[in-house]
Amino acid sequence: MIKSTIKGIGHYVPENVVTNDDLSKLMTTNDEWITERTGIKERHHRKNRNDSEETTAFLAFKASEKALKMANLTAKDIDYIIFATLSPDYYFPGSGVLLQEMLGCDTIGALDVRNQCSGFVYAMSVANAFIKSKMYKNILVVGAEVHSFGLDFSDAGRGVSVIFGDGAGAVILSASDKEEDGDILSVNMHSEGKYADELCTKFPGSKFGWSDRMRLEPESVTDAEIYPVMNGNFVFKHAVTRFPETMNEALESAGKTIDDLDMFIPHQANLRIAQFVQKKFNLPDEKVFNNIQKFGNTTAASIPIALSEAIEQGRIKKNDLVLLSAFGSGFTWGSVLFQY
Ligand code: UT7
Repeated sequence: MIKSTIKGIGHYVPENVVTNDDLSKLMTTNDEWITERTGIKERHHRKNRNDSEETTAFLAFKASEKALKMANLTAKDIDYIIFATLSPDYYFPGSGVLLQEMLGCDTIGALDVRNQCSGFVYAMSVANAFIKSKMYKNILVVGAEVHSFGLDFSDAGRGVSVIFGDGAGAVILSASDKEEDGDILSVNMHSEGKYADELCTKFPGSKFGWSDRMRLEPESVTDAEIYPVMNGNFVFKHAVTRFPETMNEALESAGKTIDDLDMFIPHQANLRIAQFVQKKFNLPDEKVFNNIQKFGNTTAASIPIALSEAIEQGRIKKNDLVLLSAFGSGFTWGSVLFQY
């Protein structure tokens, strides 16, 4: 039986730290509101919003270099790239091909995944299937985002813009038949597209043009179309319902219980959501990893950044049972349960 084992992991964020106080100079907000409602104290934004070098693919490249080093592999050993992001460098092509070029990989396949906050969980599920089917041996799975260039930093956007941060996380998922290596034990993925408008960015989408209007005609585009919009309360309520469902599904399909779990890493959307779920499952603090306080919500990058930090800090050890779960725009949600 072929196992899908994590051989390497790494993360990277832009140097520039933006505190809640920094944001309060741009809009009517304050540290107390942001901390109380979300748990976030700071996030990383690239220095210049219009920087054309520190792009999503670049952040992914830096994280991938670390993951390759840990796996003791080179870019030539990678058979396939799966790149999850909602903030790609180009409208098309996806960022996967840019990463292939930056790393100097062979002309391997590069698949972009567009599942927002659940993007990394979806990407890992696909990578697991490719490995289990023996199609590929070493897959680079990335979640990366540059949110800072596309947020509304005026009062109108404060409900959304204080939440998001830039960053990237990368995992090398490799085929193994070694007894001592870990494995992905179960995955699940879900969607409910009727709620697409509850958390989305509309522009440039084919639904939002009309016959006498080209895609790029700035004067006819409204702020509500170019910036992300979120019905926060609505999303929150669905998140706290779907998280427990997908977690239970992942554990049950692997024949495990919540007591078997060594570490739970929720998508870092809001500390209150993570705490709600932790309480529901009665999980002790040492079995839950959160770092939203430092990075904000980095959507597809949040789980691999958290996983990378948890491993780096020794919070996850070899053979530990780890559950990754996410919920977000789409709506989409899902989980990956693995033995490290
Ligand atoms: O990652 C993808 C999935 N995303 C999520 O899971 C996010 C889920 N939702 C949330 O995390 C929360 O709904 C938010 C953190 C986004 C918002 O928290 P909330 O407790 O739901 O606040 P609210 O939107 O109900 O706003 C409460 C008040 C409003 O004022 P009024 O109408 O009560 O006077 C807002 O205008 O807070 C105001 N407000 C702010 N005040 C200061 C909204 N944003 C801010 C802000 N600073 N940044």
